[in-house]
Amino acid sequence: MTKTLLRGKNLITFQDWTKQEIDMVLNVAQDLKRRFALDEPHRLLQDKTLFMMFFEQSTRTRNSMEAGITQLGGHAHDLTPDKMQLSHGESAKDTAMVLSRMGHGIACRNCFYGIGNQYLNELAKYASIPVMSLQDDLYHPMQVIADLMTIQEYFGKNLKDLKITISWAYATSHAKPLSVPLSQILMLPRYGMDVTVAAPKEFPLYGDLVKTAQHNATENGGKLSFVDDMDEGFADADIVIPKNWGGFGNYTFDEYNAHEDECRQEMKANLDKYKDWICDERRMKLAKPHVKYMHALPADRGNEVTPAVIDSEASIIYDEAENRLHTAKAIMALTMGGRP
Ligand code: CP
Repeated sequence: MTKTLLRGKNLITFQDWTKQEIDMVLNVAQDLKRRFALDEPHRLLQDKTLFMMFFEQSTRTRNSMEAGITQLGGHAHDLTPDKMQLSHGESAKDTAMVLSRMGHGIACRNCFYGIGNQYLNELAKYASIPVMSLQDDLYHPMQVIADLMTIQEYFGKNLKDLKITISWAYATSHAKPLSVPLSQILMLPRYGMDVTVAAPKEFPLYGDLVKTAQHNATENGGKLSFVDDMDEGFADADIVIPKNWGGFGNYTFDEYNAHEDECRQEMKANLDKYKDWICDERRMKLAKPHVKYMHALPADRGNEVTPAVIDSEASIIYDEAENRLHTAKAIMALTMGGRP
């Protein structure tokens, strides 16, 4: 029998978790959502402390974790590098060892390309309490589990052959990490979904993880294909997830970090070629009549998506965002509490 007792388990990527373990999270999240709606106490982590380290800004992740652990009866420390000695060079090892002596979970967001995932793994290597990714350069597990919960709520548990389009979209806000689309192509084919990625050739995803995602699709009866035309990607889709990501996939970690300024300039020049990659009403009409629009948020309104789409009946972004709370609570309750 596969282990579903998850106390002490790290969450850097769901690639390290079995489907049975993921289903356990989804079941607990549904139960916690019901209890939240009823205002029924569920103090499963009474007096437990979570250390949250954010190297970047966050609205959904920070607040779902902090509100979540409060509702579970615990407390979160909201930490940023300027509040910690890591800004003076303290190692991930010493940070993890010390925090492990003081609390019950460490959560961290570090999205620097070629650095973030390594930093998370370094924390996990030395921590004796669970380490949770709040997003790194490759993975955003807290987002993808909320996406999966939302998809199941709208389309049911049998998701075989559901057609999902993950499309690149133009944005001016910032070069967004690859971690959301990468986590989606890794996870959704494990549930049998038919996933199409639409992106200009200058915006590839990280090659090693694309291969892993192809393997996940083959092993689980899902599909994963790639097109370089947004219209083609939208054709006949049940769900569209149009979102910007930076051109990081063109560079190895070493190349990017040795020549960051040049890479950023090249990414910006490539970005400007694709201003017409926007999710608008015309493109939504290419999809199935019941199509749903999803976005991890924050969305770049007017660039990634028109207001007419993001504010339409097809848009389920606020359900998706709310489910960040319930899934985050399920993960914390199972890994920081639960049965030994
Ligand atoms: N989707 C997401 O992770 O949002 P935040 O960056 O606001 O946490």
